[in-house]
Amino acid sequence: MDTVGVIGCGEMGRMLVDGFLSSGVLRADEVVVSSRSKGSLDTCAAAWPGIGIAATNTELARQCRLIIIAVRPQEIMAVLREIAPVMDGSEHIVSLAAGVGLADLESVFWGSVTRTVPTITSRAWQGTTLICHGHRVGAGDAIRVEELLSSIGDVMLVGEDELAVATLLSSCGPGLLVAIIEEMAQAASRAGDLSYDRALSLATGMAMATAACMRKAGEAPPDLIRRVATGGGMTEVGVQELRERLPMIFDEVFAAMLERHGALERWCGRKSP
Ligand SMILES: NC(=O)c1ccc[n+]([C@@H]2O[C@H](COP(=O)([O-])OP(=O)(O)OC[C@H]3O[C@@H](n4cnc5c(N)ncnc54)[C@H](OP(=O)(O)O)[C@@H]3O)[C@@H](O)[C@H]2O)c1
Repeated sequence: MDTVGVIGCGEMGRMLVDGFLSSGVLRADEVVVSSRSKGSLDTCAAAWPGIGIAATNTELARQCRLIIIAVRPQEIMAVLREIAPVMDGSEHIVSLAAGVGLADLESVFWGSVTRTVPTITSRAWQGTTLICHGHRVGAGDAIRVEELLSSIGDVMLVGEDELAVATLLSSCGPGLLVAIIEEMAQAASRAGDLSYDRALSLATGMAMATAACMRKAGEAPPDLIRRVATGGGMTEVGVQELRERLPMIFDEVFAAMLERHGALERWCGRKSP
């Protein structure tokens, strides 16, 4: 593989580099990183001996054909404008910036551009990274990015019109699920003589086992629920309560998150207010 560049060594940039190196899909000498602060670069150099450290983003752009930009949405256009003059259009830009559309990125860089939405669960080699290729991305470049990101978990190709809602599930979802697991544990400890710590341990183990069971059985959720909820039993009562209230709650939760996504897009200049 050609050298892969990662601009921005924050949470996501470091997680990707760590995943690529730990999985063996890239060697340290096949990765170059750049970041705003020397502190972040020193951390990278200490964590991954042999990794390439570029003093500036333009120095990185001169060395790499595949460039992953892992800075915050409000920072990406400035980074792209900074490196555009040293690129010849043969590079492939991969953006992690939520809410910054392909059209905006392609208006500054005339080569191939892909948007991707990783998930924090890739730290555990689980979860799905979303990939949305722009129309200028050739088959070879597309496959290369998909192979690279497959090294840290599953990947799913999505259209840009699907990206916002898919992001709510794959990337925001871990936050939602942790909140639900925590609420279940708190309710259990309020309801009886079980400490919160022990309830959280049970709830977490149950959630992991249930997800594994859903994936292994490949059954539709109602079929799986039928196996657990014997007629007239405790689970049936609980599921009925949830079925009555959860659709409205989740519709409100998703509407609120999509509204924030729209605000982020407007803030980053994709849409006029
Ligand atoms: N966190 C998530 O779960 C998640 C999930 C999916 C997508 N994303 C997306 O991933 C991107 C990064 O998120 P994050 O959570 O990793 O943010 P973060 O921890 O704040 O990291 C952003 C990094 O960008 C670097 N940076 C800022 N301006 C720069 C510049 N001009 N040149 C080079 N580096 C620069 C900063 O470097 P210094 O540290 O050197 O100052 C910082 O470490 C965002 O666009 C976000 O939308 C995040």
